[in-house]
Amino acid sequence: MPNVYIKTFGCQMNVYDSENILKLLASLDYKPTSDPREADIILINTCSVREKSEHKFYSLLGRVKKYRKPGKVLIGACGCVAQQEGKKLLEKAPYVDIILGTGAIHCLPELIDNAHKTGKVQIDTHFYDKFVSFSDYHSPSYSKMKAFVTIMKGCDNFCSFCIVPYVRGREKSRPSKDIITEVRNLVDQGVKEVTLLGQNVNSYSLHCSGEMSFPELLREINRIEGLSRIRFVTSHPKDLSDQLITCFGELEKLCPHIHLPLQSGSTRILKMMNRGYTRDDYLAIINQLRTVRPDIGITTDLIVGFPGETESDFQATLDIITKIGYDEFYSFKYSDRPKTQASRADNNIPEKEKARRLHLVQELQKPITFEKNNQLMGKALEVLVEGPSKNNSQNLTGRSGSNKVVNFEGCSRLTGKLVQVEIIAVHPHSLFGRIL
Ligand code: SAH
Ligand code: SF4
Ligand code: F3S
Repeated sequence: MPNVYIKTFGCQMNVYDSENILKLLASLDYKPTSDPREADIILINTCSVREKSEHKFYSLLGRVKKYRKPGKVLIGACGCVAQQEGKKLLEKAPYVDIILGTGAIHCLPELIDNAHKTGKVQIDTHFYDKFVSFSDYHSPSYSKMKAFVTIMKGCDNFCSFCIVPYVRGREKSRPSKDIITEVRNLVDQGVKEVTLLGQNVNSYSLHCSGEMSFPELLREINRIEGLSRIRFVTSHPKDLSDQLITCFGELEKLCPHIHLPLQSGSTRILKMMNRGYTRDDYLAIINQLRTVRPDIGITTDLIVGFPGETESDFQATLDIITKIGYDEFYSFKYSDRPKTQASRADNNIPEKEKARRLHLVQELQKPITFEKNNQLMGKALEVLVEGPSKNNSQNLTGRSGSNKVVNFEGCSRLTGKLVQVEIIAVHPHSLFGRIL
């Protein structure tokens, strides 16, 4: 049987796409391998959201190119850099056999076949209109208890810093019928928790008539018997509806966690970013969420050093971090991306200054995360057990509804089960507990 090696960079969308690629290739008898030297095809699923993400791809490509054997062992680039570069990728890497865009995954078997037959590079970066579902394929790689399910793809928001609308195309929502069938099938295979994926789940179905809204979809999924938990990423603050906020108070399976990217605490910068909300709008949403669900975990994304960000804009970001008290966040130095509006600005912040600001936001958050975790001391949390902990195989690990990592002593047959754990110790990035 032929082997496939796949390395995935980037967001959950790419993780989901890689799973689908493995399913698709499994139907052609390909077996996944974790060793590129054993592979008959080496695939790299790429991310292009920051310059650094793109570099990671080229550096891995350089390392695996020696395993290529023309006509026998193929190298393929998929994902967002493949979409962004298309044929141009060959100027940097002429040895690549397949360039597969983000909207053409279902064409991979044909491209492999043609590459073998002709020995020529195969490129497909067309955004096919249909929403191809892979739910009928058997998955070779699932961690049985948790799964991702795409509900929409693409992005129409064009935030001025972001390349995603160019590499993922226009927004398209998947029919709710397909989504519900996929979740039901996963539950039948033992899945307890689904994470619904989209670049902006709040705009689910906005462009299609007769389809249910995102909150209605959540209500439907909440009814699926045997499913224990629902999560979703990512939601955009500009169109987070009151109905969605209500769901956090009413749907027992919806986990008390929201990832709500803020990007900047300065209304002036948010405007330049084309985000469509102000600092006060964002604070009001956080208030509403906490009113409906006081124990909700809130995480975010922040960009420092956006072109033209003054010291006072940056202070506004520091101030809102303290005001909101996030459980955790991802923070990034602004990075120029091709085609984006912000990349045409001529008031870039020097690299050294961006690094200083990044350090300051991260240092500010450390004690806040610790304090948030401390508030959970002595509390009982429901944890979905994922298996033995990586750091100490005596312990089990899992996540609470609010998405905190919880470790505790226990027997591995609890894997895949929901258990109650009392928190007895707190670490900077995890909690330790005792099973109740
Ligand atoms: N669709 C998601 C974000 C996807 S990109 C959303 O809108 O929330 C993930 C994160 O990468 C963004 O939230 C942003 O913080 C960061 N990011 C995107 N483009 C960037 C850039 N050019 N430079 C630095 N960070 C960027
Ligand atoms: Fe990028 Fe904005 Fe779309 Fe998110 S909403 S993917 S940040 S353009
Ligand atoms: Fe990266 Fe593409 Fe996701 S650019 S963040 S892999 S949508």
